[in-house]
Amino acid sequence: MKKDTLKVTIRGPLRDLWRFISHISERRRIFRHSSAERPGEKHSIRLRESLHPEVQYLLVDKIQAENDSTNSYTLIPDTSQPGSISIAAFSAGQYLSVEVQLESGLRISRPYSISNSPEEARRDNAYVITIKTGKNSFIPEEMVKNWEVGTALKVSDPWGQFYHNPLRDTEHLVFIAGGSGITPFRSMVSDILSNQENISIVLVQGAAVPEELLFSDFFLNMEQSNPGRFKWIPVLSETTDTEGIIKHTVLTGFINGVILADAMNSRESSLFICGPQAMHSYIDKELVKANLKTKMIRRENYGIPGSPSGKEPVKITVKMAGSTHIISADRDETVLVALERGGLNPPSRCRTGSCGWCRGSLLKGKTRYDKEPEGLRSADRNAGYFHPCAAKPESNLVVDIPANPGINTDK
Ligand code: FES
Repeated sequence: MKKDTLKVTIRGPLRDLWRFISHISERRRIFRHSSAERPGEKHSIRLRESLHPEVQYLLVDKIQAENDSTNSYTLIPDTSQPGSISIAAFSAGQYLSVEVQLESGLRISRPYSISNSPEEARRDNAYVITIKTGKNSFIPEEMVKNWEVGTALKVSDPWGQFYHNPLRDTEHLVFIAGGSGITPFRSMVSDILSNQENISIVLVQGAAVPEELLFSDFFLNMEQSNPGRFKWIPVLSETTDTEGIIKHTVLTGFINGVILADAMNSRESSLFICGPQAMHSYIDKELVKANLKTKMIRRENYGIPGSPSGKEPVKITVKMAGSTHIISADRDETVLVALERGGLNPPSRCRTGSCGWCRGSLLKGKTRYDKEPEGLRSADRNAGYFHPCAAKPESNLVVDIPANPGINTDK
C-alpha cells in the first residue's frame, strides 16, 4: 500500500529545534550499538599521553653536518622504552626541550626548534633538530660532543607559541631569522607552502658569513618552485664580497628598515622573529624608524646563558620537593642557571621567560629581569611568582621551586 507523504518546510528558529529532535533517534541508535565497556579514564589518559607525553625517549638516528659548527640530528623513538613507538605531533615552529647529563654529572636542558616539517616528521616518524656549537653558541659544547648514532635522549613534548595561526595572522607573513634562529623557519616554510595556498611568505635570513646561511639550498628550491608565494632575502653582515657565493642575490649589512619595508611590500603582515635578543631590539628600532606597522609580531629569543661577573655572589635558599638546599649564585646569571649548577635539576623549557614551565615562588629577596618576561602574568607576579629562567638575583633569595613532572625527573 502506498503511504501518503506530506512535505513540510520549516523556517526560522523552528528549524534548529527540528534538527535537534531529529538527532534523538540517531542518538538512541548509537547508544543501542555502543560497547558495554565504558571508555573510562584509561582511554583518555592514553590519548592525552600520545598527543602530549611529558617525556619522549628518543635515539639519535642520523647526524648531518650543515657547516663546520652546525649539525642536524635526526631523532627517532627509542622503542626499547615502554610505550615509545611514535613521536608526538607538533605545529611547525615549535621546539623540544632536550635534557643532557654533563661530564660533571649536572643535568641541564636546552630548547631546540624542530627543523623538519610536521608532514616530514610524520612520514619518517622522526624529528630533526639543528644545533650550532662552539664559541657564542647557545649550549655548552660538551652537551652534544658525544652524541653519535644510537645516543639515547630524554626530550619534552613539542612546545611553544611560535607558529602560524590562520585565525590570528595575516595572509602575508614576514619571517626574520638571525643565525641559527633559522631552524623553525625551515619547518614553517615547508609546512605553510604545502598546505595553505592563500599564504605568501618573505624570509629575511641574516648571517655573518655565507657558510652560516643554513638550509640555503632548501630555500632556493622553495623559491623556484613557489614563484609569487615565497621570496628569500639572504643578508650577510660580515662580508661585502658576495660574488659567486650562492646562486642568488645576497644583501650585505644588517637587516634594516628598507629591507623590512621591501619584505612587507605595503601589505598587512604578521612578523615572526627568531634570533638573539640583540637582533630583536635592533629590528624593533628599525620598524619604528621606517614607520612600519605590523598586525602581529611573534618572537622566539635565544641567548647565551650568563657568565660569572666577578661581583660578590649571593646565597639562594631553595625549597624543592620537601627539601631545602643552599646554593651560591652569580648576580649576572639567571636563577635557573644557578639552580642547575647547584645540581637541583629544576624544570625548564623555553628558557626565555615565555612558557611558564619554570615558574616558582619568590619568598624573600629581590630579582631583576633584563627584559620583562612575556609569559609572566601580572596576577602571578602579584601573587609572588617569578620565572627563574629570566630572573637574575639582586640579593640573597629564598625561593620555592616545584619538582618537574617532565623531562627533568628520573621518571
Ligand atoms: S623555562 Fe619557560 S618561562 Fe622559564
